Amino acid sequence: MTIRVADEAGIADAVVHLKNGNLVAFPTETVYGLGADATQDDAVAKVFAMKARPNFNPLIVHVARPDWLADFAQLDDRVDVLTRAFWPGPLTLVLSRQPNSSISARVSPNLDTIAVRQPDHPVAAALLHALERPLAAPSANLSGHVSPTTADHVNADFGSNLDIILDGGPCRAGLESTVLDLTTDTARILRPGIISADAITSLIGGVTDHVGQSSSVLSPGQLDKHYAPSLPVRLNADAARDGEAFITFGCAEGTTFDLSPAGDLTEAAANLFRALRQLDDPAQYTGLAVAPIPDEGIGRAINDRLRRAARGR
Ligand code: TXA
Ligand code: MG
Repeated sequence: MTIRVADEAGIADAVVHLKNGNLVAFPTETVYGLGADATQDDAVAKVFAMKARPNFNPLIVHVARPDWLADFAQLDDRVDVLTRAFWPGPLTLVLSRQPNSSISARVSPNLDTIAVRQPDHPVAAALLHALERPLAAPSANLSGHVSPTTADHVNADFGSNLDIILDGGPCRAGLESTVLDLTTDTARILRPGIISADAITSLIGGVTDHVGQSSSVLSPGQLDKHYAPSLPVRLNADAARDGEAFITFGCAEGTTFDLSPAGDLTEAAANLFRALRQLDDPAQYTGLAVAPIPDEGIGRAINDRLRRAARGR
């Protein structure tokens, strides 16, 4: 059985697999990650192979504590302020990489930067502490597909190709971390997420928004086609057309899946990827119509993912 309860025995087995250079899927507060020991070249290479991920798209390195960063990333006051405020939590920092560190160069091929975050999930924390090494981990989905927020989602994409999927239940936040580039004087948001630009600005001053700009250079992962179900996605819909499923926000008539009956964006974010996966059934629907989502706070991150989903695979 690939899916394992994330108890002490499950985590101990996962650590053995990781030390042997194999991959383990594990829960974080955002989405499930596909983890490899970040110090092993071959293990990191397996991540790209298993996801069919283009190798120009770098991976996030996950740490158990902020003091693990000093070995492989260059730090400044902003890192200190932001990690104190938001770690553990859904904020990824892109930093200059220390040359000659123990981290595999394959996590960010051809770049002199490295993305890092400390996840806020007891299973992720226990795994990192037991392994005593950073984990390179992208979202545990096939490249271009919708990110997984349950162990079953991971199983649907990878099944028996993985030895262990640690089951930590549904992810609390349900949307990937905010990616913030700190390699320039003015910080830049490369991917909107749960932590808002305003929250970051209030601590370190102005940030610029690079989302949707020719981000293929800045954040290679922000490919246009991403987060896509197999069915076409139609945005800002007032109602479903013939055969479509209708994803709504706040009580609406004719709904197939209401992201948040109370109209709460945090709840909608937690449900979004489950809705996109659950309704992606060509035997039942011809497409997914999505009602408008307010473009404020976490709604900006939701709309970012929906726009990419609507561009198809
Ligand atoms: O919430 C999350 O961030 C989840 C959990 C598992 O931690 N991880 C995740 O990883 O979403 P992934 O690989 O699906 O997305 C990472 C994003 C990609 O857009 C990638 O291009 C960007 O971060 N990224 C990683 N390293 C980078 C770097 N050195 N410079 C710029 N962007 C980077
Ligand atoms: Mg991903």
